[in-house]
Amino acid sequence: MAMRWKNTLKESDVTEEATFMNRRQLMSGAAGFGIVGGIAGGLVGAPTGAKADTLTPNSFEDISNYCNFYEFGTSKDDPAKYAGALTTSPWSVKIDGMVEAPGDYALEDILSKMTIEERIYRFRCVEAWSMVVPWNGFELADLLALAGVQSGAKYVAFETALREDEMPGVKYPVLEWPYVEGLRLDEAMHPLTMMATGIYGKDLPNQNGAPLRLVVPWKYGFKSIKSIVRITLTDKEPATSWNKANAREYGFYSNVNPEVSHPRWSQASERQLGGGLFASRVPTLKFNGYEEEVASLYAGMDLKTHF
Ligand code: MTE
Repeated sequence: MAMRWKNTLKESDVTEEATFMNRRQLMSGAAGFGIVGGIAGGLVGAPTGAKADTLTPNSFEDISNYCNFYEFGTSKDDPAKYAGALTTSPWSVKIDGMVEAPGDYALEDILSKMTIEERIYRFRCVEAWSMVVPWNGFELADLLALAGVQSGAKYVAFETALREDEMPGVKYPVLEWPYVEGLRLDEAMHPLTMMATGIYGKDLPNQNGAPLRLVVPWKYGFKSIKSIVRITLTDKEPATSWNKANAREYGFYSNVNPEVSHPRWSQASERQLGGGLFASRVPTLKFNGYEEEVASLYAGMDLKTHF
C-alpha cells in the first residue's frame, strides 16, 4: 500500500531499547503505585518530585519484567514470571463478521503475504509518558484486504487470547476478559495503523503482545491491543475493555489530545522516557504529532465529547 505519511523520526529519535523495556519498573519504583484507579494507577496525576533523582536504572533482566499486560497479572513482576508461558506458535487469527472470506488464518500464512517493514512511531501512554519505538510489522489494511471487507462494515473489533491455563491474571476481574478493543473502519484502514510483529528488529517479546498486536500511533497506548486472536468486521461500535471498566475516563476514540484532560490529570504535557525520570516535560502534540495525517478522520466531530 502506498505510503501517505511523512516519517520525520529518525533512528536517533528512537527510545533506547533498555529504556523502552524498563519504563514500568522505573515508574513503579518512583511512585509505588498499584493498579487501583485505572491503567497502572495514577503516577501522572502525581506532581513530579525530587525523588526521581535517587533512582538508578535497572538491568536488562529487570527491564523485561515490567510490562502492562493484565492477563498475566497486575503486580509489577507478574508479566516476567508468566508471559513466557504464552504459547505463541502455532497461532491463528479468526477473521469474521462482515468479510468476504471469514476463517481462521494461520499466522504463518498471513506473514507469507505481508511485507514486514520498520516504522518508527511515537508512543504516548494515557498516563502522560512517551517514547519512540521502532516497530516491525505490516499495515492492518493489508490484512483486512486479505479477508475482503464487505461494504456495510463500519468498525473493526479486536480480541486478545484468553487462556486460563497460561494467563494467571485472568482469574481476577480486573477487567472483563478477554481484553477487547475497536477502531472505526477508516481508522483501521489508515496507512499509519499497523499490526506489529516485532520491535528493534526482533520478534515481539511475549509481554509486549506476541505474536501480533495492534499499533495506532495517534491514540493512547491502551488501544494497542496485544496477542490478537480475533478480528471482527461489524456495523456497530464495538465495546472496548477500558471503556467498559470506566467509561468516564476512557472513551472509544482515545485520540491523544492535549486539550482534553483525563478526569484525574492533564494531558497537556508528557514526560519523554530516556531523558531522566523526572526530566522536564514537553508539550503533548495533538494526535500525538500525526495531526496532518489523521485530523481529517475527525472533521466536524467534537473531540471533547468523542474523547
Ligand atoms: N492488551 C492486552 N491484551 N492486555 C493489556 O493489559 N495493556 C494495554 C495495551 N494492550 C494491555 C493490552 C496498555 S494499558 C498499554 S499502555 C499497552 O498495551 C502497553 O504496551 P507495551 O507494554 O508494549 O508498551
